[in-house]
Parts: sequence; structure tokens; C-alpha cells
Amino acid sequence: MCGIVAYIGKKEAYPIVVKGLKRLEYRGYDSAGVALLDQGTINLYKRQGKVANLEAFTEGKNINGHAGIGHTRWATHGLPNDVNAHPHTSTDGKIALIHNGIIENYGPLKEELMSRGYEFKSETDTEVLVHLIDDIQKNENVSIAEAVRLALHSVVGAYAIVVLSKENPNQLVAARKSSPLVVGIGKDGDFFLASDATPIIEYTKRVVYLEDEEIAVVDLNDGLKIFNIGNQEVTPYVQQLEMQLEALEKGGYEHFMMKEIYEQPRSITDCFRGRMNAAEGWVTLGGIKEYEQKIINAPRIIMIACGTSWHACLVGEYLIEDLARINVEVEYASEFRYRNPIINENDVILAVSQSGETADTMAALELAKSKGATILGICNVVGSSISRITDAGSYTHAGPEIGVASTKAFTAQVTVLTLMALSLAHKKGSISETKFHTLLTELEAIPEKVQRILEKNTHIESIASVYKDATNALYLGRGSSFPVALEGALKLKEISYIHAEGYPAAEMKHGPIALIDEEMPVFVIATKGTSYEKVVSNIQEVKARKGKIIAIVTEGDTQVRDLADHIIEIPETDEHLVPLLATIPLQLLSYHIAVMRNCNVDQPRNLAKSVTVE
Ligand code: AGP
Ligand code: GLU
Repeated sequence: MCGIVAYIGKKEAYPIVVKGLKRLEYRGYDSAGVALLDQGTINLYKRQGKVANLEAFTEGKNINGHAGIGHTRWATHGLPNDVNAHPHTSTDGKIALIHNGIIENYGPLKEELMSRGYEFKSETDTEVLVHLIDDIQKNENVSIAEAVRLALHSVVGAYAIVVLSKENPNQLVAARKSSPLVVGIGKDGDFFLASDATPIIEYTKRVVYLEDEEIAVVDLNDGLKIFNIGNQEVTPYVQQLEMQLEALEKGGYEHFMMKEIYEQPRSITDCFRGRMNAAEGWVTLGGIKEYEQKIINAPRIIMIACGTSWHACLVGEYLIEDLARINVEVEYASEFRYRNPIINENDVILAVSQSGETADTMAALELAKSKGATILGICNVVGSSISRITDAGSYTHAGPEIGVASTKAFTAQVTVLTLMALSLAHKKGSISETKFHTLLTELEAIPEKVQRILEKNTHIESIASVYKDATNALYLGRGSSFPVALEGALKLKEISYIHAEGYPAAEMKHGPIALIDEEMPVFVIATKGTSYEKVVSNIQEVKARKGKIIAIVTEGDTQVRDLADHIIEIPETDEHLVPLLATIPLQLLSYHIAVMRNCNVDQPRNLAKSVTVE
């Protein structure tokens, strides 16, 4: 996890680095630090807490320097305190280093270095890197870049690092393996390095995404040079960023999460724009088009993901199995990778990930690739690691999602999976032309229907105020609304810290019903469709035990209205598309409850947006 930023050039480094760290705070925010090189001295400032704490701490101190590195941490080894915050420095203070990832063999490396007299100040795994580089540079009498390269040969684990050395004031050395790192090529011969492109975008659009086990040297005299760990020079592949700066700002909303919830009519439209046309009756996902026959012929599709993206996969399973009649299995990436799964060459593995950087999902893909399976991806972040490792894939085009709780990325993932299911079904002939046209027409109408739900925000906020002090909550749904229930529960727990469970409505009687009393809010997705009557019966069961019922129903519903304590109406749509609508009120409910409980909505405790560690 964690975010890293670095700058070298003619400008002052501190403001660029600190601004960049704020953009990367979604990746981790338990402590922050910077190291600045000014007139032959490295000045180091580190503080527990948010980047704002660091800023307050540096007030009145020397923050000059044209080269600087900064870090916002999500601790893996050692408490989040001032000492463990990055950057870490060599004993003589000549080298400073920032690191994102985990050094798995730090134990033996630390022992070895300690036996040779190195003293460790922190409890982090990272500190071994700085002493190791220092040790190699001194003993082998090599350049800092070469010392980094040699040191990385001894390292097992994941890293994105940037090294600042006071003996090389014109240079920064960076390297990556498994954790992301982008080099920005500035307009005045200056350079930027960051975990993603967001800290770079306002200065330059020319970037190079480092590949695994590559080492980049940015030098004010020699420019950018990239080597692989075997010391062969690699020609940098310079890409042009398409991201807009405005997409990263809050745009008048109090929180990014609210902005992102409200963006959904647009983000869903962006997701299907150019990929379907109801009037002309076609759908196509350019990125995976040439793999479609392979998918249709595959014995099964294994979908892998974590968290919210895993919920999107569950919706995808309903859609693809029902419409395209292809066998789908959905797996947690973290379980899949370690349970010796049976994978063969005809299998298609489809990873779904907002960030495209989730370590477990990446590792699961690598495993599948090594077994010869076709690997596909659905990612939001363009140029992310997952989008680059996969054979093919589709972007969700939801735009940057900054709030740690995923909202618009989820609905965009479900939209892409709907397009995929429709495209496969049409090609295979497993769907009638009439049904195909109905679904395309209904899908085109979804953004406007999402907008109508957003207009009910005040009503939803008033329901939130009734349940803000709950200690538990249950979410129930059936069919493809079951994953929506899981997602609703996850949203509530991650941002409001209320314990919540999602359950298939019919499973309630096999255990969770014991929890129901007059204190328990039960959120039920009870829209019109195949199992509507069954869900109504489940609602009756809750009511009989005095549970409080908050039901999401189809506009005009009367049956549930009479039973429920509160109802939220959503526009009617085809049953297959209900998840895209039913999710919205649950996002708003969680948001308002979290705000009313004074929780940090955009950066909930203990979480990070991009989970690049196991
Ligand atoms: C979503 O609200 C969560 N914070 C989290 O579960 C997230 O969906 C998960 O970490 C997967 O991330 P990814 O989509 O970037 O792979
Ligand atoms: N493993 C390092 C630490 O605990 C870096 C963690 C991170 O990527 O934030 O400090």
C-alpha cells in the first residue's frame, strides 16, 4: 500500500511532493514524511497521521530543495508512528529512501546487517533496503544506481522505491517490482516519480510506467535511463496521459464519495458509450472482441477479485450464466491463489479490479497465466498493473475514484459485465433477438433512472437519521440482488463502522434470523421479479420478529409498502439490470449514516484504496 512521490528539477520540490502526497493519501494515511536535498544536506521530516500533520510540522522549518522524496504510509511492519514513517535514511544520512510494498525476507537481511554493525532505528521492513544499498555502495565502490540494482538481487517481496543520495544531487534512482511506479517527464528537463499519475498530471502528460524489476535513473544532465535488474538498458516507452485534472477535484461536494455517487449517471454512460446502440441493435466490447469465441468455447470462466469488485463478479456470474449460458465461477483472489486450484489452458480467467493494482488479484492472475489459461481484466485505472499483465480486457471508464469506499467503480464494473454477457449471448445465440433489444434499450435508460434515484437523496437521508445509531444491520436480497445486499453491508461497515451482514434472503431462516429483534434494521431489496413473492415472505418473517424493515421496491409497489417501516422506490427495469439501480440508495444510506456518525467518509480507518500488499 502507501503512496510515493518524488521530484527533481528547477522547481521547489516540497510543494510538489506534498500536493502529490495528498492526491495519493487514498493509498494509505497513517503517517507521512519527506526528505529534501538542500545545499548538500538531506533534511528529513516525518509525522504520524495525515499529510496535513506533516505540513503543520514543517511550518517554519527549512523546506527548500530542488530534489525531494515523500511518502504516505499504510503500515505493514511496525506501528504507524513518527519513527517508522518513511523516508528512511542510512546511518550517515547520505541516502534517503521511500518504499511501497513488503520486503518478505527482511528478517534474515536485518540480522546479517546488524551482525555487521548496522543499527536500526525503526521496526519497518523497509529500513533493511537503505542499509543494504549503503553497504553495497561502500564495499563495492559502485554508483548509487548500481548499488540499488545489486541490492535488489537480495530482496524477496514487493517494492516501489525511490532513492535520494546527497552525493548525487542531480539524480534520483527508482525501481519497482509488483508495486506500481510512474515516471513523469517534465517540460523543463525535470522529473516526477509517483505511485500513480495523479500527482504528475498537472505538470506533464508524458509518462513512463515502469515494468517489474526495472530500475529508472532520472538525471538532470543525462535524462531518463531505464535498466532491467540484469543491467540491460531498456528503451523507455513514453505514453501520453489522458486524465483530466478536474476529475481529481471534489467539484463542490463535501466528500469525494458523494461526488462519485452523483457521477454515476455519467460514469455508466461513459462506460457503455460507443460499445452499444439499442436502436441499431448491437453491442461490442472492443478490448475482448477477439477473445469472445474462446470465452464461448471455454469450459468455464473463473472470475477473481476482492471486496466490492468481487461483488460485481457475483452479479456478473448471474448475468453471464443466465444470458450466455456459460459456466462461471467466482473466487476471492486471495483464496484462489493459495488453494492449488485446477486451471487448464482452455479456462478463461477474468479479473475485476478498480485500481488494477490489488496484490492478491495480480498474484492470482500470474498463477493462472503460468498454467497457460487466457487471462482477461476489467479495470478502472488505465495503465494499471492488471491491465498490463492481462491478454486483453475492457476499461470501465468510470474516471478516477478517490473515495476509499467504491461506488461508481462498482456500477461501471457491473455495466461492463452486462455488456459482456449480452455480447457473448448474442454471438452464441443463447438470447432471443427480442430479449436482446429489450435489454439494450433498458440499459440505455439506466443513467436517467439512476438520476431519478439520486433525486430522492433527502428522503434517504431522513431514513439514515433513524438508523444512524444502530450497532448491527442485516441486508437481504435474492438472485442478483444478493450481491447488492453484500455490497450494501460492506459499504455500511467500511465507512460507518456499524457491523453489517449481507445474506441471501432465504438463508436468513438458517441462522441470522436469531439476531432479529426490534433493534435490528433489515435492509431488503424487494423489487418486482422472479422471487418477489418469496422476498415478501422473508419480509413477513422479519416483521413477525419485530425487526425494522427498510425496503427497496419497484415504483408503485403496494404490497411491501404495507409491511415495511420505510420504503425507497426505484424505477422499474428489467430484472437483470436491477443491481445497477438498487445499489444507489444503499450507497446513499451508508454515506449519510457515516456523516451523521462523524466518520471519515473518504478515508475510513485502517483502510486504503489500493491494497498492494497481501
Ligand atoms: C471497496 O469499497 C473496498 N474499499 C474494497 O473492498 C475494494 O473493492 C477492494 O480492495 C478491491 O479493490 P480493487 O477493485 O481496486 O481491486
Ligand atoms: N512495508 C513498509 C512499511 O511498513 C511499506 C508499507 C507501505 O507500502 O505503505 O513501512
